[in-house]
Amino acid sequence: MRTRCPRTREYLPMTNPLVFFAPSGKRGRFPEGTSVLEAARKLGVDLDSVCGGRGICGRCQIEVGEGKFPKLGIVSAPDNVTEWNAVEARYVSKRGPLQEGRRLGCQARVCNDVVIDVPPDSQVHRQVVRKSAAIRDIAIEPVVALHYVEVREPDMHDPSSDFRRLQEALEEQWQLKDVTAPLESLRLLQKALRDGKWSVTVAIRHKREIVGVWPGLHEQGVGLAVDIGSTTIAAHLCDLASGEVLASSGIMNPQIRFGEDVMSRVSYVMMNPGGDVELTNAVREAIGEIATAVTKEVGLISNDILEMTVVANPIMHHLFLGLDPTELGGAPFALTIDGAYQTRAAHLNLPLSSGAYVYVLPCIAGHVGADTAGVVLSEGPYLKPEVSLLVDVGTNAEIVLGNRERLLACSSPTGPAFEGGQISSGQRAAPGAIERVRIDPATLEPRFKVIGCDLWSDEPGFAEETASLGVTGICGSGIIEAIAEMLLAGLITPDGVVDGALAARSPRVEEDGRTFRYLIREGEPRISITQNDVRAIQLGKAALYAGVRLLMDHYGVATVDRITLAGAFGSHIDVKHAMILGLVPDCELDKVGSAGNAAGTGARIALLNSSARKEIEEVVRKIEKIETAIEPSFQAHFVGAMAIPHKSDPFPHLEAELGITFKRGGDGETGRGGRERRRRG
Ligand code: FES
Repeated sequence: MRTRCPRTREYLPMTNPLVFFAPSGKRGRFPEGTSVLEAARKLGVDLDSVCGGRGICGRCQIEVGEGKFPKLGIVSAPDNVTEWNAVEARYVSKRGPLQEGRRLGCQARVCNDVVIDVPPDSQVHRQVVRKSAAIRDIAIEPVVALHYVEVREPDMHDPSSDFRRLQEALEEQWQLKDVTAPLESLRLLQKALRDGKWSVTVAIRHKREIVGVWPGLHEQGVGLAVDIGSTTIAAHLCDLASGEVLASSGIMNPQIRFGEDVMSRVSYVMMNPGGDVELTNAVREAIGEIATAVTKEVGLISNDILEMTVVANPIMHHLFLGLDPTELGGAPFALTIDGAYQTRAAHLNLPLSSGAYVYVLPCIAGHVGADTAGVVLSEGPYLKPEVSLLVDVGTNAEIVLGNRERLLACSSPTGPAFEGGQISSGQRAAPGAIERVRIDPATLEPRFKVIGCDLWSDEPGFAEETASLGVTGICGSGIIEAIAEMLLAGLITPDGVVDGALAARSPRVEEDGRTFRYLIREGEPRISITQNDVRAIQLGKAALYAGVRLLMDHYGVATVDRITLAGAFGSHIDVKHAMILGLVPDCELDKVGSAGNAAGTGARIALLNSSARKEIEEVVRKIEKIETAIEPSFQAHFVGAMAIPHKSDPFPHLEAELGITFKRGGDGETGRGGRERRRRG
């Protein structure tokens, strides 16, 4: 828009048009004819491009603002940039129409003051919105980015290597200096250049190293985030530019055949020469299979994977990297390495892209692994003022407590009871396992739900629906609910004794040698909760609670503001029943939740955001590690926590929610108001 001199009314000499970018708010003046992409680059505006402005990748789409913007002094209109051109027409003819009002930023050239909107999908550093409001979105900050380049053909008069000319092209077209390439990428270069008629797409890691080469334009870079659990291995295939999860898969960890839990696998390594290699090969082969399966699902191959991130507990971490886990089998549980580690996928015999890297998140301590680091990265307690408690329940509970001031971590030996081990009818969470239990306090009759069927056992159709599944046992979440419900119904005392006096009231209370058991299901198999089962759960939950209290003591707090249960098991536990059992301390119930596979989400964040890697490395370095085995107060906390929910710790929020008062000190009673106590009395 031309302006007149307010005094003489003569036209002033034209200044360069002003370009204002939203939402960044960056602005600057550029000569007429500057492309929007060029202007964006000069101002550092986040506008994506793979093809470098050749009108073929479609990543640079923008919208031209329309209307008056008085604060900016701009009247913006679609014709303040050049007209739709032949390159855009060609793009649309090949790739389909652009969204209404969109232009290719590399083709639209500025011819007057203009407001340019950069939509989220055209930003490199976009946000991947996560469903829960309590957790932050994932910001994309690519570790690996794709760059399309046109490379000079070789010339007899100016001899230089293919790689030299590629380096020149990258510097000229992308301002990337001194890019390097491993041998694996160089091996692909000659053919790719010739197949692509001297144009190639290269995947460049950290703006330095070529980790993938394709002839012509290659538009999608993918990475794999892997969570190696003792039981299952889960993987998410992600688009590195958009953050979208393209495919996910989980398989059983094949190391199970060498031992059910991690300690038995360490024993296997100690007893069998070469056992460590067997275990390492088993887990790497399984990851190779997952990589093949998830890429196949979306029409790619595992060689298309440019980057992989891994979270795992310390023993899985060591076995995956091929490090001897023997030291982790006993005190002082020294890790070979605790910091984050990255190495070439080829060194780990993984069938990924020729130059791909594997980044393993840092371990926190000998019993608190990279999986917990993943949970910390995903949940971000170090960013919040509130004191959060993160618990990953397994054979070893990994516990983190704190906020942006301080974070502390420990692990506590909960034993296998929560995974169904050492429980008379216990089993892993699998179809047919009882996962929910309710007990009527008046009749002492139970009802339950099994995995794989939505009906409760007292609903019509349950028998038919479970006929093929069977009711095969009770899994961890089922046991937690069963024991919590038994307490509420008065079937067990706060000390955890199955009350034999109730045999007179219900045939479900059965004599079992010198103790009693409670029958949940008649049939084959008979499923009951024995005195020993209750004891095993008490020992496990007391260990976990004692670990939590130890961290609370060290931090100097008597309560926590938020509790997050992580891990596969954590996501299945009913938080109210977990608290009734005394697995975790009292807290407002709506601030207690499960984070699902938070460790896997942490791996995904580290895959998509290079700063997040530095962030978690620094946070983990600062976490104060508490060793429960040498803490004198652990034992006292453990003893107090054997009672259900606890010998002396208050549970005001839980009591208010349930409308009951827990009885303490082993007087054998917990009741709903006074009504229940009178009835039993
Ligand atoms: S930058 Fe690739 S189409 Fe514009």
